Amino acid sequence: MLITAGPTREPLDAVRFISNYSTGTLGYCLAEEAKRKGYKVTLISGPTHLKPPKGVNFVSVNTALEMYRKVKEGFPFCDCLIMTAAVGDFQPEKIFRRKIKKEGKENLNLRLKKTPDILYEMGKIKKNKILIGFSLETENLIRNAQEKLRKKNLDLIIAQKMDRNKSPFGENKVSPIFIYKDGSSQKIPLCSKSQLAKIILKEIDFL
Ligand code: C5P
Repeated sequence: MLITAGPTREPLDAVRFISNYSTGTLGYCLAEEAKRKGYKVTLISGPTHLKPPKGVNFVSVNTALEMYRKVKEGFPFCDCLIMTAAVGDFQPEKIFRRKIKKEGKENLNLRLKKTPDILYEMGKIKKNKILIGFSLETENLIRNAQEKLRKKNLDLIIAQKMDRNKSPFGENKVSPIFIYKDGSSQKIPLCSKSQLAKIILKEIDFL
């Protein structure tokens, strides 16, 4: 079982990076639960404050590109890939070796370039492996998630809504929607991340 977790960091200069609010909670819960169920688990994680679960092969990464390389390395040996990581979609085109100074500037324009879409790339070579992705949306939750499921060749996508009073980040409880490749879906009642990890792993037996 190959699981990714946490945010990625895209460096900008010697002291700064672009990232997101992901804490890695669900990915670490999944790794722990999968290990408990007897799977051989590799957890590839961006920077978090969490302790890797015991008995799990832990791989630490920073950038989207590093995560892509590690997933590509592990993918041929896995039966199932669960991408909970909030992978940065763009990285600065140029990384400044020194700290960017504010003096003499009123604006600062950054040029960003696309990072590899890890799930999409794995979806192209998946064969009979199980691929699970996540979709965090501020609008058109179902339509956008269905589109990603199709485009990335997934077996299951777990869609979650993000708005001002409902953030799925951190220790918050969540009520995601599972969307399957046959077009069916199921709404999961409000649950903790560790409960959700158990539900996802049960689901895998039926995919
Ligand atoms: O397209 P979007 O970023 O919304 O898709 C989210 C899903 O795709 C998540 O499962 C995430 O881990 C994965 N992803 C990826 N590589 C990227 C961006 C997202 O594997 N560069």
